[in-house]
Amino acid sequence: MELHTFKDYHSMSHAASDSMLRAVMSKPDAVICLATGHTPCLTYRLWVEKILQKNINVSNCFFIGLDEWVGIRADKEGTCHHFLYNYIFHPLHVPESNLHLFNPMSKNLEEECVQMNEIIHSRNGIDMITLGIGMNGHLGFNEPGASLYNDAHVVKLDATTQTVGQKYFATVQSISRGITIGLRQIMQSKKIIVLANGFGKAHIIKQALEGKISTSLPASLLRNCHQATCYIDEEAATLLRK
Ligand code: F6R
Repeated sequence: MELHTFKDYHSMSHAASDSMLRAVMSKPDAVICLATGHTPCLTYRLWVEKILQKNINVSNCFFIGLDEWVGIRADKEGTCHHFLYNYIFHPLHVPESNLHLFNPMSKNLEEECVQMNEIIHSRNGIDMITLGIGMNGHLGFNEPGASLYNDAHVVKLDATTQTVGQKYFATVQSISRGITIGLRQIMQSKKIIVLANGFGKAHIIKQALEGKISTSLPASLLRNCHQATCYIDEEAATLLRK
């Protein structure tokens, strides 16, 4: 994995959005998987702006959801659905036929996983994935201890994720389960962009980049991925060895 450190959140987001732009320019029918959360907000805003300004054709790209909170209506503010429509699908006018997200209210979540696996497989995998890093080192909802060999699956969320996840919602939610694509699918993605900013992420970044590479800290596994680039700001890099 390559590591790039930037002065601040803005310059980090610019660089990451440029990398995302190069990906869709070089593969106009890319399969794209995007994390939600606070970290990538500016990267996505800049990416969309640049696509529109430069008139890049993304009408043949296919978007898949990385993860979702189980049992929360998709249209509620705070869900991954809501985020992706707001930041990406509405501004880029992505038609429903060009996207597939997990249905968090499905009565058959196993079937949701099967469908997602089939879609990823039939499209020859993910061309570009943009990830954030959880406060416990999770990727998507692959929590500490997740298997390297997992495809899409339903997961009992770790206590940290349940607590931290409340920040996305206006009122307290019961978010005990998630649905996510697996570590195998993430690590097989052809281009991996991983983002982290702010002092709050400094400790987990140190562990992920300088600690043991282990499924007990999923983000550390990306160090074995030659196709991964990590973009962080100086605040997130504070605890790293110089
Ligand atoms: C959300 C997701 C999560 C977040 C991570 C960081 O779709 O996949 O893994 O990327 O929890 O969240 P923020 O960016 O809010 O710190």
